[in-house]
Amino acid sequence: MTTPTTPTATRLLTDLASPLPGRGALPPRAHLHSDAPRQVLDGTWQVRLRPSPRHVADDGWQHLDARLDPANWTPVQVPGHLPLQGHGSPSYTNVDYPFPVDPPFPPDDNPVAEHRLVLVAAPELLAHPCVLRFEGVDGAATVWLNGVELGTLRGSRLTTELACTGVLQPGTNVLAVRLAQWSAHSYLEDQDMWWLPGLFRSVTLLARPRGGVRDVFVHAGFDHRDGSGTLRVDVELSAGAEAPATLSVPALGLHDVAVGVPHHVVSVAPWTAETPTLYDAQVHTPAETVNLRIGFRTVGIEDACLLLNGVPLLLKGVNRHEHDPRQGRRVDLAAARAELLLMKQHNINAIRTSHYPPQADFLDLADELGFYLIVENDLETHGFERVGWRSNPSDDPRWLAAYQDRMQRTVERDKNHPSVLVWSLGNEAGTGANLDAIACWTRDRDPDRLVHYEGDRRSRHVDLYSRMYALVDEVEAIATEPPAETFTDPDEQHRRRLPFLLCEYAHAMGNGPGGLSEYQDLFHRYPRLAGGFIWEWVEHTLDGPTGPDGRPGQLYGGDFGERVHDGNFVVDGLVHADRTPGPGLADLARVFSPVSLELAADRSTLTVVNRYHSLDLSHLEASCTFDGPEPASSVPVPLPEIPAGSSAVVPLRLPPSATVTVVLRRRTAGDGCPAGHEVAWTQQVPARPIPSFAAAPVAPRRDSDGLIHLGPAVFDEHTGMPVRLGTLALHDVAVGLWRAPTDNDRGMASEEPELPPVAEQWAAARLDDLRTRLIEVTADGPALVVRTRNGPPVLDAGVDVTWRWTSDGNSVALECTIEPYGRWPCDWGRAGIDLRLAAPTTQVRWTGWGPGPQYPDTGQGARYGTFVADRDDYAVRTVRPQEHGARRVDDATIDLGGSALRVRGSALPLTVRPWSRGVVAATGHDHELPVPTETWISLDATVSGVGSASCGQGVLPQYRLAPATQHLHVLLQQTG
Ligand code: GAL
Repeated sequence: MTTPTTPTATRLLTDLASPLPGRGALPPRAHLHSDAPRQVLDGTWQVRLRPSPRHVADDGWQHLDARLDPANWTPVQVPGHLPLQGHGSPSYTNVDYPFPVDPPFPPDDNPVAEHRLVLVAAPELLAHPCVLRFEGVDGAATVWLNGVELGTLRGSRLTTELACTGVLQPGTNVLAVRLAQWSAHSYLEDQDMWWLPGLFRSVTLLARPRGGVRDVFVHAGFDHRDGSGTLRVDVELSAGAEAPATLSVPALGLHDVAVGVPHHVVSVAPWTAETPTLYDAQVHTPAETVNLRIGFRTVGIEDACLLLNGVPLLLKGVNRHEHDPRQGRRVDLAAARAELLLMKQHNINAIRTSHYPPQADFLDLADELGFYLIVENDLETHGFERVGWRSNPSDDPRWLAAYQDRMQRTVERDKNHPSVLVWSLGNEAGTGANLDAIACWTRDRDPDRLVHYEGDRRSRHVDLYSRMYALVDEVEAIATEPPAETFTDPDEQHRRRLPFLLCEYAHAMGNGPGGLSEYQDLFHRYPRLAGGFIWEWVEHTLDGPTGPDGRPGQLYGGDFGERVHDGNFVVDGLVHADRTPGPGLADLARVFSPVSLELAADRSTLTVVNRYHSLDLSHLEASCTFDGPEPASSVPVPLPEIPAGSSAVVPLRLPPSATVTVVLRRRTAGDGCPAGHEVAWTQQVPARPIPSFAAAPVAPRRDSDGLIHLGPAVFDEHTGMPVRLGTLALHDVAVGLWRAPTDNDRGMASEEPELPPVAEQWAAARLDDLRTRLIEVTADGPALVVRTRNGPPVLDAGVDVTWRWTSDGNSVALECTIEPYGRWPCDWGRAGIDLRLAAPTTQVRWTGWGPGPQYPDTGQGARYGTFVADRDDYAVRTVRPQEHGARRVDDATIDLGGSALRVRGSALPLTVRPWSRGVVAATGHDHELPVPTETWISLDATVSGVGSASCGQGVLPQYRLAPATQHLHVLLQQTG
């Protein structure tokens, strides 16, 4: 027997199934900084939960005099998400709707949270008409004040204002918000992120004085030909205005001038991300003053090239979600500022606010610090792709009003920010008339900005040809397409006239992203390419319980018992959820550097390319350091004047054999960076051969107990493998071709959709299970020569390995040749040897490239020097454990706290971690890894690149490791 549905429940069910926008909202407007009174309602509210809209009943809880059972109510923080405060649990999906695709109906299993706040109205508010402003309510809400329904909220990441004049009363009031997690609008909010209902942004009561400023629209253009600016500030007044508004921009000599008409300013400093000049301005009426910060800039397109202030603009961007590991999409402003500074310090100049407008104050930060923004509408219907895009709201007239409402609220709120160059209609919402309609509306409403939507495959309604994860070759083909006139199709002609943008590329998941340089080289080469946005800035893990090692738990999809989820696909950022950078960020900083430096092979010149949009290089100073064979010394390198967009060749006189490093640093603090901050560098490192033995080689000696001695090394004659080096026991010495699959190894490379991911190819070939057959152990003069054949079960392919060991009595040298035989069905992950030591590493010191790891297509940020890292930093821990941490070393000491192993090679990839690859590959979370008790070391002849196949391009052909003969040469010694 089902519970009878109450009239309240019936009404709620009808409401939740409506594709229409919310009821009762005031027309959207800019988020203004006004001197009118306000009262922030953030803090502790009370909440009670019901499992479904069918369970709601009218017990008068929305009224001040309600008699409520306190046992049913618990405190909840606003802003905040309910599942992160013990009410329900988070769930993560990428594309899939976690409920039946049955639009416009939400599922019955739909938690409803009734929120209550008792507030005392600030007396200064009551003298005015008032509105209640909700900046972000995830889910579908109905709002009451003192029992009077004010309206319904739809559009989780969008602001809604509800009038409450006459309802707000002196003294005590009660605000009630009934929030259902799912509604028809959930179909429009299918972004790849956690489903997290709650009032997660601020709630504020605003006085809206009669005759005050209802809305403002700033139009501030810059004319690069003569340096002038044109300013027009359109103002809409609230009812009851007796006097028109006036505008003042004191720094421009504008005092109480008219609004709504253009003002020509003979000379202004333009706004760019490099020179974020803002002019303080006031819009004034007798009833209200609004403060603005105005930036003059003009966005344009010429010859399919994106221009800012008449100059080509290259976007070096990231996709940014709002995420905090404890607070979800509630990100405190101080944290947002810190992350923007981190971006500045890594040469990032652009942000796509994927996939919804961020909190309103974020835009102020972007204006002030200098970022180019694509502000994206809160709209994604990706889950319809799973059902062949049937019933996609984007092409269904019943949803048109919701599309219009969402886009209007996006544009209206943020329209005064110079940082916003582009409006994005949404993400992955297929195609359809509703999208076309909002594109047209946006262009009409704001002709000074560009319209973006990646899903418009023919780019008919947009100003940028945008794609995600296009392959390097495709991008080059697009950059070099024949001119527009050669196309007969008018759509094609239109598209050919648009700049090209990668709104997402280089999927920063796990070890990677590989291949950043190849994209950037194209961006620099072809003017049609306006750059792109890395996917993505921050990982979305949520904090969980600590693991055995004391490591904080970082949780992802499936960790909350979800039946439909996408696992760790939400863990794909350049920085971890706590904003600790992963190694990819240092690589990106180098690739995104605004200055390119190139030392001629003969070291006679340094070519300096200024890639800034508008800065010359006078804020930077260059110096050159020589390292070895003489002690290090550093000299300044005088730079000539190099205006933005130009280059110079600087003559140099450098010693021939030293490692030379040229660095450009900031002279003073600025642009979010401290004085001395490195903006660009280049290096030339002469190859350093492995040192030869100082003393004469010693000969191998066989023992009676089955052991062979060679200098400090002892071998087992039955396996041919070393078992000791000095007093250090060596275990499990073996050849290795496998690596613990990275997230990219587990992804299907876009360019090879017919092939399984390389990790699956390795699994099928049993690359992780090589068996050894000893062929012979012989002496060749002073050398001990061991030959083995190593191959996986089942297959008739493998490798023949020759291990040639020599010693000078102090250390041992290994020259190892790994030669494939048979028909290999797959590429290799690496080629080298593994060994295990019975104690955990404390730290690794090395001379080579660092501090970050380097695979053939990563490590652009690593440079030659001497480094020290503790165990965890060397191993590079990722949320889902995987292969990482290889450094190219010439000389490294792996410290075991008491004794140490010294390894010398020539740019030898060295991996050191406390667990076997098998353990790493089988463990789902970093914090679940066992407490370290041993050390696993890999000495590789070579390793494969990592690519970006977790979403996009796989390893480029030049960085793959096809089976071929490999040579490894290494010296080993026990020290300490
Ligand atoms: C894109 C999508 C992003 C994210 C990414 C993969 O298709 O727009 O939201 O899902 O793929 O991480």
